Amino acid sequence: MPKPLTVVAVAGAALLVRRALRRRVRASPLWPMPALDEPVSGRPRRRALRLLLTSHRTVAEGVVQLRLAGDGLPRWEPGAHLDLVLPSGLVRQYSLCGDPADSSSYTVATRLVEDGRGGSREVHEQLREGMEIEVRGPRNRFPLVDAPSYVFVAGGIGITPLLPMLRSLPDGAEWRLLYAGRTRASMPYLEEVRALGAGRVTVVAEDEDGRPVLDALLADLPEEAAVYCCGPEGLLAAVAERVPGVRFERFTAGVVEGDAFEVELRRSGRVLTVAADSSVLAAVRAELPDTAYSCEQGFCGTCRQRVLEGEVEHRDEWLTDAERGDSMLICVSRSRSDRLVLDM
Ligand code: FES
Repeated sequence: MPKPLTVVAVAGAALLVRRALRRRVRASPLWPMPALDEPVSGRPRRRALRLLLTSHRTVAEGVVQLRLAGDGLPRWEPGAHLDLVLPSGLVRQYSLCGDPADSSSYTVATRLVEDGRGGSREVHEQLREGMEIEVRGPRNRFPLVDAPSYVFVAGGIGITPLLPMLRSLPDGAEWRLLYAGRTRASMPYLEEVRALGAGRVTVVAEDEDGRPVLDALLADLPEEAAVYCCGPEGLLAAVAERVPGVRFERFTAGVVEGDAFEVELRRSGRVLTVAADSSVLAAVRAELPDTAYSCEQGFCGTCRQRVLEGEVEHRDEWLTDAERGDSMLICVSRSRSDRLVLDM
């Protein structure tokens, strides 16, 4: 068991990293998040697809790759992701890492997160070849821009959105990649990545090489270089510290910061305070622990609640304009007024 002080120190460090990252995110040209490749609000949502899981195999230590087959699947561009609706109802986002020209299947990969929220464990342990899986998307918040040169930084499973980007770069493109992981055995697609760019790829396995040295990689970057990063929060924060304009992808709970406000739960007769760095969902769950939620990123609609009074600041990518008239997704959205009244 870790000692209490150790726990506090680790939690404190994690908070500092999150705060640093939020500051960097907001300083980034990508804040607020870039527009989706098609607007969601004001349009009918794209129909969910039911695809057949034709392959479920281990491609690195703790990483499984899924192939989901269907006919005439919607096109996607490198950087796009899919929402998978798991049999339990959890919704999780995974970057597409196969071939964008393949209209008969989608490929994603996921790492087992031992102390995660349950989605990766369900993918690893419950999904079987032959099952039908509901998917939504693809959507792209991490598009590859035209640039004279590129720097990619991947941590472990973070290689997945970058892999289709690397494959799509034209011959003669100037790029380099740092691919870091705990051990070589835990790094998916390592051989393919190496083969894509002899001399351009630096592989850092921490058990052999120690922590990746970012300064050398990110020193003297031309101003127009596009820098892409995907991986654990510590890596994102370290890159953002050095390159404020970094483009990144992350599928953890959304950034929910804003001003503090009150929420009245009319049917329950409670009034809560939503702190500046917390979400309505977190405040509500502290009082009503059974409140439904899943993605915590405004993607899945599970946490939708009816709004009786107050002005909502919608931050989701799910509700249509009509739905925004009287409801909100409480995992990400906040209030423009001092108080919101919810029908809960
Ligand atoms: Fe998925 Fe809120 S939990 S939209």
